[in-house]
Amino acid sequence: MSGIREADLRDLDAIMALESATFAPDDWSRESMSREIASEHTRYLVAEQGGELVGYAGVLAPSGSTDADIQTIAVAPAHRGAGLGRRLMNELLDYAASSGARGVFLEVRADNPGAQHLYTSLGFAVLGVRPRYYKGGIDAVVMKRDAREPVRGEA
Ligand SMILES: CC(C)(COP(=O)(O)OP(=O)(O)OC[C@H]1O[C@@H](n2cnc3c(N)ncnc32)[C@H](O)[C@@H]1OP(=O)(O)O)[C@@H](O)C(=O)NCCC(=O)NCCS
Repeated sequence: MSGIREADLRDLDAIMALESATFAPDDWSRESMSREIASEHTRYLVAEQGGELVGYAGVLAPSGSTDADIQTIAVAPAHRGAGLGRRLMNELLDYAASSGARGVFLEVRADNPGAQHLYTSLGFAVLGVRPRYYKGGIDAVVMKRDAREPVRGEA
């Protein structure tokens, strides 16, 4: 069983290794990632197994704001399909609700049906499409969920 805890800047090297491997050429810079992790308006989580970082995810949920945004989520390939993505998302959704958000938004590549399936199963619905949002001309699908809807149990 993997453990999930809040991320801090000591996790940056391991997060960036997974970030580049997962999202290049759309990966964030080290500077952007460190700003995200350190921001008072975000919550970033890491998942660890045997002392190794195997996933991370973050949400922007400023205190007092009615909107929250899932910023990113990644699970290392060898650890996918074991429920970790769902557990990370459920913790972020809990956090967004506790910080007062009413709606939680996210963007996902139109050519990423696996992630879309995860989000739909968590209660997200499609709001619209941003054409050619990603490099290579891939559309972004914008999804939204009611933040106050209870999260599902862990898989
Ligand atoms: C998307 C991602 C975070 C899911 O993490 P995970 O730990 O594999 O997800 P889980 O094991 O919790 O699975 C959650 C659900 O999503 C579905 N799912 C996940 N990946 C899938 C895939 N490639 N194809 C179809 N369904 C998939 C699973 O079937 C599961 O549903 P179930 O519980 O009904 O079986 C992971 O695949 C990943 O890191 N992908 C690359 C990065 C990425 O696409 N991030 C999202 C950017 S918006």
